[in-house]
Amino acid sequence: MFDTTSGLRGRTILTGDRPTGALHLGHLAGSLSLRVALQESNAQTVLVADLQALTDNAGQPAKVRSAVREVMLDYLAVGLDPAKTTFALQSGLPALAELTMLYMNLVTVPRLLRNPTIRTETEARGFAGGVPAGFLCYPVSQAADITAFDADLVPAGADQAPLIEQTNEIVEAVNRQAGTRVLRRIDHLAGAAPRLPGIDGLGKMSKSGGNAILLSDPPEEIRRKVMRMFTDPGHLRVEDPGRTEGNVVFALLEAFDPDRGEVERLAEQYRAGGLGDMVLKRRLDGILQELLRPIRERRAALAADPGAIDAVLRTGTELARGRTETVLDRVRDVFGLATRRTRRFDAPVFTALP
Ligand code: TRP
Repeated sequence: MFDTTSGLRGRTILTGDRPTGALHLGHLAGSLSLRVALQESNAQTVLVADLQALTDNAGQPAKVRSAVREVMLDYLAVGLDPAKTTFALQSGLPALAELTMLYMNLVTVPRLLRNPTIRTETEARGFAGGVPAGFLCYPVSQAADITAFDADLVPAGADQAPLIEQTNEIVEAVNRQAGTRVLRRIDHLAGAAPRLPGIDGLGKMSKSGGNAILLSDPPEEIRRKVMRMFTDPGHLRVEDPGRTEGNVVFALLEAFDPDRGEVERLAEQYRAGGLGDMVLKRRLDGILQELLRPIRERRAALAADPGAIDAVLRTGTELARGRTETVLDRVRDVFGLATRRTRRFDAPVFTALP
């Protein structure tokens, strides 16, 4: 699905998701296929950002906990390979929390309040009683995630651009304070795929919107969702001209139909009149069934052995622990704190000083 990755090799990539539920077609078209391509010739880590998920789900720890495994199943089912991609659990990496604490001194509250991603997300969530400090500060924690892996490339949706900009500001602030380059600047890879609409046509496909086709949906569920998908409410009779913009069936055909020429022809015929929604929906259902069957089957096989999934995440997290502690040491040094070389947690506090 992606050909934007051919020139990318030898980069250090960090990307991730908030585990709040199973992943859907929007993830597949957006981030997942890109990651599968990138893992071939880059050093890629995928972070399961459970602490970030808690910044707006603190009341639902059980949901976040079970979503960690769901998301891992989705990753492996779509072809992310533990031999090529490292999977790490955010809450298993204490260095990330400590880096967040240090970076918070380099960021002002007004700057966080101005962050466009935070603004839109705060509005959408409408936090009764005010925005939680943890949520307001999650861009700082995300900067910790990215820098802790010495990443120089973050593939993420266009909505994440303000977060990457804010990360680079923190990178500059640390380097300025150090008088040398302690942290690397980050490039954002925004991917070529447009955001998929939800099946109701009301917004983007999202877990919380209840308008998604999940990678784990059974065949009947996929079919049911395709059949009630939003098309063009003005297209009442087959012979009427129909609109393809805002038409979810066409958006999904454009994203997943391997026969581009045929989609173009169908769109022309639809706009001219004489093509019924049912024909298109049956075509889309066939394509999605074929696309999702192998993913669902691999996912079911993996789900039968939850211990193996947990082991993949544990191994990756342990590997990541050493790497993130190394970066933490460099940043602690900038702030005049003891580093691992001089610090001994079992020693009395004075011998732990630099
Ligand atoms: N903010 C991302 C999301 O909404 C998740 C995330 C956490 C992330 N840490 C990251 C993405 C680091 C890229 C890099 O799903």
